[in-house]
This record gives sequence, structure tokens and C-alpha cells, in this order.
Amino acid sequence: MSAKYCITLKDVQDAQANIQGLIHTTPIITSSSLNALAGRKLFFKCELLQKTGSFKIRGALNAVKNLPANEPVAVVTHSSGNHGQALALAAQMRGIPAHVVVPRTAASCKKAAISAYGAQIIECEPNDKSRTEVAAQTVNDVGGILVHPNQDPAVIAGQGTIALEVLQQVPEIEALVVPVGGGGMLAGITIAAKAIKPEVKIFAAEPLNADDCYRSKINGQLTPNLKPPTTIADSVKTSIGPNTWPIIRDLVDDVLVISEEEIKAATRLVWERLKLLIEPTAGLGLAAVLTTHFQEVAGNIQNIGVVLCGGNIDLASAEWLHE
Ligand SMILES: Cc1ncc(COP(=O)(O)O)c(C=O)c1O
Repeated sequence: MSAKYCITLKDVQDAQANIQGLIHTTPIITSSSLNALAGRKLFFKCELLQKTGSFKIRGALNAVKNLPANEPVAVVTHSSGNHGQALALAAQMRGIPAHVVVPRTAASCKKAAISAYGAQIIECEPNDKSRTEVAAQTVNDVGGILVHPNQDPAVIAGQGTIALEVLQQVPEIEALVVPVGGGGMLAGITIAAKAIKPEVKIFAAEPLNADDCYRSKINGQLTPNLKPPTTIADSVKTSIGPNTWPIIRDLVDDVLVISEEEIKAATRLVWERLKLLIEPTAGLGLAAVLTTHFQEVAGNIQNIGVVLCGGNIDLASAEWLHE
């Protein structure tokens, strides 16, 4: 099945061996009150408790592990968010420099988090063109290797290790609900889960305001967001890309689009019922299983894994909390 795609199950298994001992095996949490609300059994995979506060360290560590063995090299990426922090820590653990291109308008707490892991920050203008150009220039200047946040095969394979863990922790899983931005996590999880247990359904959860994955599936072709999206799920504003799209096109069962109100309500529910401080992007999964669309497409499926993908939230700037 996997020859057509940028990774195989073997790549995900190799990634698991590469990152073993360097990351946390995050717990699965359940809640009878949320089960009652959803009418199904929900198993929350707590990647907000992962090192750096999101699953992103999985892919970053695997990418760094896959660098040429003997040459000293630097890594470069463009991400003001969780991948920037994750790559910074992965590079620090390997003892190599990291350079992270960040829009000059990014919140200072995000820049501080990246710097705290020892990476050098390079500012760019707040648009995709500038990000890409400055990253390419930095690769040239420092003789580094670019680690793309969601299209690099080693990153995608690393994110897929979430599925290996969940299927081991909860063998009765029948479906997984996965937030999607660039699709690295979704594609990695899909390749691994479908190879191990083909009957597992994979549902993507995406903000209605950043619905490129949903529209790509409807159109049958890659359809990126035309304008920078506005959503409180700020970790998934990116569009899916050329490496993740074929996997999503062929193997993801459905994409659920979620309104801003639904994201906020689900995030609050996780805080209140699970006592877990997720970022709004991680509210997408629960929001998805509570939609009427999900009730229609999920049929008799009972046991559902929901990835709580991250917990990096700047509470000081969460104005919606006070609405
Ligand atoms: C917390 C969190 N969830 C989900 C995503 C989306 O991941 P991907 O771009 O691999 O779809 C990201 C990406 O930055 C993230 O940081």
C-alpha cells in the first residue's frame, strides 16, 4: 500500500526506535462524563504532556536523528510555534545548532520559548514568502539543513509514532480523531494505524476558518487556504502539502470542520472535565466527536482515540476566556 506515499509503516517503526527513551510515553485519560456526552468511549492521548508541550518533538527528534552521522551540521526551520520549540530542543539534545525563522510579529513568549531551548531566532516579515525566503537564505548562510514542520518525511514518520503507542495502549481502538494543519501528524498516524489495523477509521478535525483539508478532499485535489486563516486554533493555520496530501486523499476516512464556537466550547470542556490545560487546537478532536456530522459518519463505532495534541497556550492573551 505504502510505496505511493512518502513514508511506510517501517519508517514509523524506525522512528519509534530512534526516539525511544528521549520522549515521554504520554498517558491515555478517560472521562465517564465526556463519554456520556459523546455517547461513545473516548480515549484521550495526552500529547500536551509531551516534552516541549506538544507531539512535535517526535518528528523533530526523528529528523535530527536522520541527519548525516559524522558531519557537524545545523538545522533550520520556519515556525513560531510548537515545531520551532521542538526542533530547538531536538538540536540541543544532539549538540548541534538550530536556527528558527520567526515572524517579527510573533508573541514574545513564543520567541522566548524557542530561545530557551538554545536556538537562534531570525526574524522575517509576517508572510509565507518572507518565511520561505529567509529560511532558504539561512540554510545558505549557516550551511544548514531545512527541517520542514509538516512535509519532511522524517517528521511525518515521527508523528506517526503516536498511533503505534495508542494502538498498544488501547488495542480496542476503532477510530482516531486527529487535528490537521500541514497534515504531518494526520498522515503519519494514518499510515501507521491503517497498516497495523486496516479497519481503524481515521477522522481529521479542522477549523471551518482554515478548511483547506476539507476542501481538498471535496475537490479531489490539493486546495490550499488562499488567505492566512483567522482561528483561535492557531497551530493549524497551515495548509496540507504535497507529501501529506496523497495519504490524506487516499486513506483518511472523513474531515470534520469545526466552528470557532465549537472549538472554544470543547477546549473549556477538556479543561473543566479532564483538568488538562490544552491549547485550543487540541480542542478540535473533542469538538469533532460532538458534532452531528460525526454522529452520522461514525455509525456504531464505540472506542475512539482523540489526540490532545498540545498545551502551549499564552493564557494572558486568551481574550476569548473572558467573553
Ligand atoms: C498543537 C498542535 N496540534 C496540531 C498541529 C498540526 O500538525 P500538522 O501541521 O502536522 O498537521 C500542530 C502543528 O504545529 C500543533 O502544534
